[in-house]
Amino acid sequence: MNKKVLAIYFSQTGQLGQIIDNFCAPLIEAGATVEKVQIHLKNEFDFPWTTPRFFSVMPDCVLGTVYQLEPYQLKQSSYDLIVLGYQPWFLSPSIPFNALMHDANFLQVIKNSPVITITGVRNMWVNAFEKIKILLKDAGANHVGTVALYDRHLNLVSIFTIFHWMLKGEKSRYLGFFPLPGVSDADICNTKNFGELALPYLEKNNWDGLQETFIRVKAVDPKYHLMFIEGKAGIMFKIWANVISNKQNKTFWLVAFKYYLLIALFIAAPLVWIINMLIFKPFLSKHIKNKKAALLKLN
Ligand SMILES: Cc1cc2nc3c(=O)[nH]c(=O)nc-3n(C[C@H](O)[C@H](O)[C@H](O)COP(=O)(O)O)c2cc1C
Repeated sequence: MNKKVLAIYFSQTGQLGQIIDNFCAPLIEAGATVEKVQIHLKNEFDFPWTTPRFFSVMPDCVLGTVYQLEPYQLKQSSYDLIVLGYQPWFLSPSIPFNALMHDANFLQVIKNSPVITITGVRNMWVNAFEKIKILLKDAGANHVGTVALYDRHLNLVSIFTIFHWMLKGEKSRYLGFFPLPGVSDADICNTKNFGELALPYLEKNNWDGLQETFIRVKAVDPKYHLMFIEGKAGIMFKIWANVISNKQNKTFWLVAFKYYLLIALFIAAPLVWIINMLIFKPFLSKHIKNKKAALLKLN
């Protein structure tokens, strides 16, 4: 197959790189030329994080502050497909991904090109995805499909495990008995099947129906109670981000935000989950279906 594919992404831990490698494997096997490019910021964030540094990026993530990218080279000026990796940071596109989406060279390449977005997250990707849909639309890209991999453990469990991962720098078991953090190895490996499904569309250069296929096989499968929590949290994060960015004493306000977040995650989120199970899920199934359909509609 004589097709040119660009797979471009940022990854701090290597997880999104593994996901993209698996997605692209069947394309390479079928003979497509896949150019993989990992982007970097000019001044990278150290990994592992410390707690204050982790929270300090929240305002810039939420407000979409554009950081400078380390220069990178692309071999072609256009591609038959762009596989675009992103990750949410504080319910917004990560700072490196946002930098890419404001890079003049990349915007030229992505214009009019078919784009499949892929993410690997803790479990809250919906707000970031809504913002990315707008960025892609503004860039004139043809957003043809999306894949979202997440940590399938309970929300309250993955909060502990992701912090352990981010602050220790190892995808290992917190306290020796918590589950492993992040997207499971099985789900990462299964991404090959999603790449396989994209092949006939790439071959024909006709992307009609790919997103419906991805939805059918649950390559993307939003959970309503998490969408609901994100909707509320997104509004609060924006308020906090605006307040903090205007303060002289940012350190104090970032610590206040950290405690707000812990209360929101450990008290508000479980309450929302209970309300969702008792009220929304049984009685608002049509509303939920419509909300999901609107989220998953591309272009
Ligand atoms: C600063 C920061 C904020 C994050 N915020 C979110 C979030 O809002 N929702 C989520 O599901 N995951 C969040 N994550 C997890 C990332 O989306 C991602 O899954 C993780 O960083 C590992 O992937 P990567 O190294 O390949 O990017 C966050 C990670 C970082 C470092």
